Amino acid sequence: MTDQPRLTLNDGRAIPQIGLGVYKLPADEAVTVVGAALDLGYRHVDTAAFYGNEQGVGEAVRQSPQTIFVTTKLWNEDQGFDRALRAFDASFAALGLDWLDLYLIHWPVPAQDLYVETWKALIRLRDEGRVKSIGVSNFSQGHLERIIQETGVVPAVNQIELHPRFQQTDLRRFHQAQGIVTTSWSPLGQGAILDDPAIARIADKHGKTPAQIVIRWHLDSGLSVIPKSANPHRQAENLDVFGFALDQDDMAAIAGLDSPDGRIGPDPELL
Ligand SMILES: NC(=O)c1ccc[n+]([C@@H]2O[C@H](COP(=O)([O-])OP(=O)(O)OC[C@H]3O[C@@H](n4cnc5c(N)ncnc54)[C@H](OP(=O)(O)O)[C@@H]3O)[C@@H](O)[C@H]2O)c1
Repeated sequence: MTDQPRLTLNDGRAIPQIGLGVYKLPADEAVTVVGAALDLGYRHVDTAAFYGNEQGVGEAVRQSPQTIFVTTKLWNEDQGFDRALRAFDASFAALGLDWLDLYLIHWPVPAQDLYVETWKALIRLRDEGRVKSIGVSNFSQGHLERIIQETGVVPAVNQIELHPRFQQTDLRRFHQAQGIVTTSWSPLGQGAILDDPAIARIADKHGKTPAQIVIRWHLDSGLSVIPKSANPHRQAENLDVFGFALDQDDMAAIAGLDSPDGRIGPDPELL
């Protein structure tokens, strides 16, 4: 599959709109699982130092003849200017590639108050050509405003929890105004959203599975999306989302699932 949609980043580069998430993928399974996904047509993999599987991800990417977009993330205890530079070196070595597409600050951790210094380190890495694009994850509008104000550099991406039960419409609006691409993490609500009757009805209507409807919703909403599956059948299902579109009724029904209590993961202000 070569004609997957891509989103343009504010630095002029492009990110394949669908990627494979690999959180909780054991290190010893990463080569096989990611390799299967790349064979199926995935062109973008989302890992992190914290996931402990960068080495396996890198090996699978090295074995692929395709051009793969690779994202990894800097862990919380590695924040600070010098530590961030060292953490980048460690991730780069673990991946074993001669490029990295996107490097993200994994969480702002406002209690540490190191995310501005950390962002400056990522800017240095990008300016030195060691990473192609830089961004953040789990940043609120306030965190974004602060790094932009203090450095003048707008992140290419903010990767945030986002699924039909937690749609983050205000933050997405701010991203759009700033030219920041939104990537949805836990895009399937870790599987929980797939049993929702409204999603089931839309799935029946289109002859698709609930996961395909939810992924299509992310795509039609202009989001980058990184569903995780360790199972090649579900990986294939999650990539088989082209050739149909949701209509206004479908979009309205899914808009109605948004809930202030829909968050699954930690609150970034409190972590
Ligand atoms: N930046 C951050 O702070 C952050 C936080 C969390 C996650 N993430 C990223 O986002 C990625 C995705 O999030 P996530 O892993 O939390 O959750 P998710 O992608 O919403 O859901 C994954 C779960 O859904 C199941 N699943 C996948 N496809 C399915 C299908 N077609 N039908 C039924 N079940 C299906 C998977 O099981 P199987 O594997 O058995 O198929 C797994 O249990 C992560 O892997 C990670 O890369 C980032």
